[in-house]
Amino acid sequence: MAEVVFVDSAEHAGELVADAIAELVAAKPDAVLGLATGSTPLSTYRALAARHLPLGSVRGFALDEYVGLPPGHPQSYRAVITREAVVPLGLAPSFVRVPGDDGGPLEGAGERYERDIVEAGGVDLQLLGIGSTGHIGFNEPGSSFASLTRVKTLAARTRADNARFFDSPDDVPVHCLTQGLGTILRARHLVLLAFGESKAAAIAAAVEGPVTSSVPGSAIQLHAHVSVIVDEAAGSQLANADYYRAAWASRLPWERL
Ligand code: PGA
Repeated sequence: MAEVVFVDSAEHAGELVADAIAELVAAKPDAVLGLATGSTPLSTYRALAARHLPLGSVRGFALDEYVGLPPGHPQSYRAVITREAVVPLGLAPSFVRVPGDDGGPLEGAGERYERDIVEAGGVDLQLLGIGSTGHIGFNEPGSSFASLTRVKTLAARTRADNARFFDSPDDVPVHCLTQGLGTILRARHLVLLAFGESKAAAIAAAVEGPVTSSVPGSAIQLHAHVSVIVDEAAGSQLANADYYRAAWASRLPWERL
């Protein structure tokens, strides 16, 4: 079962995740982080940046990237990861990868990205947000639990959700490259964050609903080490909320995320 932790704010969540990353990097300076984009991971990146940890040997692999944006587009996930994570955290730019950024052709980019993750030793801690469609990464409903990094078509709802980052909804790309659910499940620790009422249904379905490719986030139920961190609004539809709160309040001294 996923451990579910209620927090009072995104900032509090960011501090908890920063604690977990600090501990990981202290034990393994060249740890591999799975990086996410969107609004959700920003409080984690801010909390980490404030700690000035030595992260120069850490490697990072982003979950996904749009296909078809001009190089250097400010909303490309390469640009977002550079702006929000690489620069403030002091990561080495050449150690941080985004799908499709190896200069090779789009065809085969997924296979090459998978190979590079394996060669880096696999992802130690994967940050995840969840979309209103229930997607993690850009794995939209129907994605195979065995899927690896590949080109996908974005759901209309995801394009509408992300239109806020673009001048016009028509500017949101139609295609993306995304790690698959199978890729995500290979990471050693999954940390799924969600804030706000708009995520409540997706979180309840992912954590407590049936395991189904119709809710890609429900793949987390197949993983042995998952931390789900929610604010009150995002956790408001969880049936077992009282149990999660009691379990976290009574955790043993050595228990971490
Ligand atoms: P958000 O997106 O963090 O901007 O809410 C999450 C997602 O779509 O996976």
